[in-house]
Amino acid sequence: MALTSGDWVLPTTGDIAVYRPRIGDDLSALPKARVVVVTGFKPDHDHFVALGYRTVATGQVAAAVVCMPRAKDHARALLAEAAMAVRPGGVLVIDGQKTDGVETVLKDCRELGLPLGEAVSKGHGRICVCTADGRLLAWKARDRDIGGFITRPGVFSADGPDRGSELLAAALPKDLPARVADLGAGWGYLGRAVLARPGVRHLDVIEAEREALDCAARNLDDPRVALHWADARTFRPDKLWGAVVMNPPFHSGREADPALGQAFLSAAQKGLAPDGMLWMVANRHLPYDKALRAAFSDVEKVGGDGAFRVTRAAYPQRKAR
Ligand SMILES: C[S@@+](CC[C@H](N)C(=O)[O-])C[C@H]1O[C@@H](n2cnc3c(N)ncnc32)[C@H](O)[C@@H]1O
Repeated sequence: MALTSGDWVLPTTGDIAVYRPRIGDDLSALPKARVVVVTGFKPDHDHFVALGYRTVATGQVAAAVVCMPRAKDHARALLAEAAMAVRPGGVLVIDGQKTDGVETVLKDCRELGLPLGEAVSKGHGRICVCTADGRLLAWKARDRDIGGFITRPGVFSADGPDRGSELLAAALPKDLPARVADLGAGWGYLGRAVLARPGVRHLDVIEAEREALDCAARNLDDPRVALHWADARTFRPDKLWGAVVMNPPFHSGREADPALGQAFLSAAQKGLAPDGMLWMVANRHLPYDKALRAAFSDVEKVGGDGAFRVTRAAYPQRKAR
C-alpha cells in the first residue's frame, strides 16, 4: 500500500534490508534481487534463504524496512541497527501492528525528534516512512549484566532468570550424565546449572535466536560447551544424549502455540539414549501430558509451583530417528 500510494518511493539503486520478517510475511512487493533479509531467528532465516533471499548486504543499504517485534526495547534496538546500516539520506520504513505496540514506537520516534509523516494504515497494520537518522543510535542495544549473566534486548527473560527455569534448576539431581543438551537454551541460565554437575562432559546448547546464543556463549564460557544456532525441533546430535533439559517456547508471535513445545518434546525423545532422561518445565495449563506419556515410558512430576510443573521423563519410546 505504501508503495502504490507513493508514501514510500523505492530508491532506484542499492540493497533494501528487511529486518525480522517472519515466516509467512510476503515480501513480493519488493524487487527480490535487491532484498536482503536480516534476522537472527534461525527458522525465519532458513525460510527466506529457501525462498532465494540473500541474508548479507554488500555495504550500506539504500533503505531498510523494520518489521517491529513486540518487545519495545527490542524494537528500538532494531531501529538503531537499521539506521546504522542505511546509507546517508537513505530511508527507514517502520512496519508494525497496533496490537504489537507499534504506536508506542512511533510516538517514541517523534519524541526523539524524527520527522515522521502520517502512518499508512490498514486494519491493525501501520507503516511509517522516514529518513534514517543518527538520533536513533541512542537506542543501540547494550549488554546488560543481571547478576553474573549477560543479556541483550529482545532475548527471553532479559531482566533475570525465568521463574520456571529456576524451578527446573532447583529440581535437577546432584549429578547428570556425561552428554547433556539444553533445547531452546536462551542466554544460558539452565546451561550454567547443568555445567555445575561434575559428571557432565559435554553440553549441547541449542538456540534459534542468534542474540540469545551470543549471550549464552559469554555466560557459558566452558570447554565442555558446544553452541548451536539451530532449530531445536530438527536438531539431531552426533551421539545420543544422556539427559535433556528444557523450558520450551510456547508462543509463535502473539499466539500461544503448544505444538512448539510438543515438537521440542519429540526432538528430546529422538535425541536421547534409551536410558536417557528429560527434565522439562512448562506452564501448568499447557497440554503436554499426553505427548509426554506417548513419548516416554516413565513420566513423573518432580517440582514446580502453582504456575509451573517440572517433569522428569525417562525411557524414550523408540521410533525412527
Ligand atoms: C521459554 S524460553 C527458555 C530460555 C532458557 N532455556 C531459559 O531457561 O531462560 C525458550 C527459548 O527457546 C528459543 N526458541 C524458540 N524457538 C526455537 C526453536 N525452534 N529452536 C530453538 N530454540 C528456539 C527462544 O528463543 C527462547 O530462548
